Amino acid sequence: MCGIIACRTDRPATEYLRVGLRRLEYRGYDSVGIAVRTAGGGIARLRTTERIGALDTLLDRWTGPRFDGLGIGHTRWATHGVVSEGNAHPHTDCANQISVVHNGIIVNAVALRARLARAGHKFVTTVDSEVLCHLIEDERRAGDLLQAVQNALASVQGSWALAVLEHATGRIVLAANGSPLLVAHTADGDFAASDIAAIADWVDEYRVLGDGDIVDLTDQDTWRHCGAAIPPPMATRSLWRGGDVELDGYADYMAKEIDEQPEAVARILDELGDGIATGALWNGLGLPPFERLRMLGCGTSLNAGNVLGNLARRLGGVPASATLASEAGGEVADTGQLCLAISQSGETADVLRAMQSSAVGESPVVAITNNVHSTLARRADAVVGCSAGPEIGVAATKTFICQVVTGSALLLSALVATKRLSTPSAMGFVDDLRRLPDQLATAAAVARCVVPTMVDGLLAESGFIFIARGLGLPYAAEGALKLTELTYRWAECYAAGELKHGPLALIGAGTPVIVIENGDPRLAANTAEVQARGARVISIGLPGSAVPVIENHTAPWGPIVATVPLQILARTMALALGHDVDKPRNLAKSVTVE
Ligand code: AGP
Repeated sequence: MCGIIACRTDRPATEYLRVGLRRLEYRGYDSVGIAVRTAGGGIARLRTTERIGALDTLLDRWTGPRFDGLGIGHTRWATHGVVSEGNAHPHTDCANQISVVHNGIIVNAVALRARLARAGHKFVTTVDSEVLCHLIEDERRAGDLLQAVQNALASVQGSWALAVLEHATGRIVLAANGSPLLVAHTADGDFAASDIAAIADWVDEYRVLGDGDIVDLTDQDTWRHCGAAIPPPMATRSLWRGGDVELDGYADYMAKEIDEQPEAVARILDELGDGIATGALWNGLGLPPFERLRMLGCGTSLNAGNVLGNLARRLGGVPASATLASEAGGEVADTGQLCLAISQSGETADVLRAMQSSAVGESPVVAITNNVHSTLARRADAVVGCSAGPEIGVAATKTFICQVVTGSALLLSALVATKRLSTPSAMGFVDDLRRLPDQLATAAAVARCVVPTMVDGLLAESGFIFIARGLGLPYAAEGALKLTELTYRWAECYAAGELKHGPLALIGAGTPVIVIENGDPRLAANTAEVQARGARVISIGLPGSAVPVIENHTAPWGPIVATVPLQILARTMALALGHDVDKPRNLAKSVTVE
């Protein structure tokens, strides 16, 4: 989704903006733009609806005055207004005295636009963000930019991460509310970004703006909150390095991230392993006891939530339900409920909204996230990091595996601490978890041999059915989601027992049916049902399956290793169809709109 970078550097700002915007590419975008001061105080505003390479070309061909070190940049993922150069950020006011980049949604943009237009402002775009330029323009007449931004935002409803560049002075003012923004001071200069990835090449530590904060990007940041000066928050060490977003010889990030799964799981177990069977991991969170669990998430993260729900029910007899974050408003919180909010980005708007919904009410929330400084992490009562490391591919791969392993570690620990599971049993499960890195690596090796041989025969198919039972179901759902988002083909997941209640009508000669074969004895009959109707069955699972990857079919987290061939199936098909596996069409890495 949209990304922001701002800088105040001694060298030309374009040197940093080019790199930073490229680092933001992974979030998905449909246009990109910068506004940079030039020697003499002019402004160069360059925008394109093509890839960032096109912006590089515009810069390479620039024949105007030399760039100075002050600039802002933006990658846009359209929400309000079509994809066009005119709608690309940065936007300006009528008098072209400020440039603005904005992430978020202005909820009352229509009313503000009408009011500003009546007052004589000329709008040149159809995006909600433009109202900010004109509001600040009005307020700037009284003088100070920081005060103007503060006054302007007083009439705005919605969410924002905002960088405002004042052309005449080169001053940059930042503001945040419900949308991430961070600042950092480095040997290269002062930076702001919506995502640490953008500035990871130069930044060792950074500070995160809280909701309602307004900051002057100088080497002595002035921080304000609700009109009052406040001390800057504590600095956070950056875990990202610029090189984290390099391909390291891989053809795409998805391939790299699938390969990183064993190492990521080993890292989680190094970090959390000792606190599982003792209950210390759970006790350290300082949360009250719970009687039931509610998992909140979207897409892949909700699939991970369903794995965790199965584990809690099976091992601890704990009632557990998984709630689609976007539908949480229709649910009612249960007494004694603990919520697990699961989100790799920690910025998913649906999840943030769900935390304020009736499904959560007053219950405590634990965030399971790959971004421990995210909005979700800051708003939750406790946080457990997934330690997957940077995931660039829009399709979640290693973050899913890490959510499952981190969440399983947490729940095992909680069950021990609440006397629902014995320490010796938990120790056995920890041993099983420690075997996972090898099992995942073996699964990848097997899948790389077997899956590509199947793909040619599947490319012409328009629809795919995934079936499983019990603990295999969330993995089948994840396989179907992966195939859908990468191949742009229909893929539906069904509980195998449900086929005869309707979906069996879809099966005809050659219909591909992917079966997660986890040893449930009832699956054989369901597989026979589809085979009898001509389906082409691809079984993934225990020895004897077409893709034999599952060794431990009794683990309470289910057949996690089946995920690997499902990822490889989706990637191999998508590549064969000529799709970009890292940036599937219409999708974004961090979904900051509801
Ligand atoms: C799947 O590959 C997707 N990336 C998507 O379903 C994702 O899991 C969903 O948008 C939720 O994102 P989050 O984990 O950042 O909250």
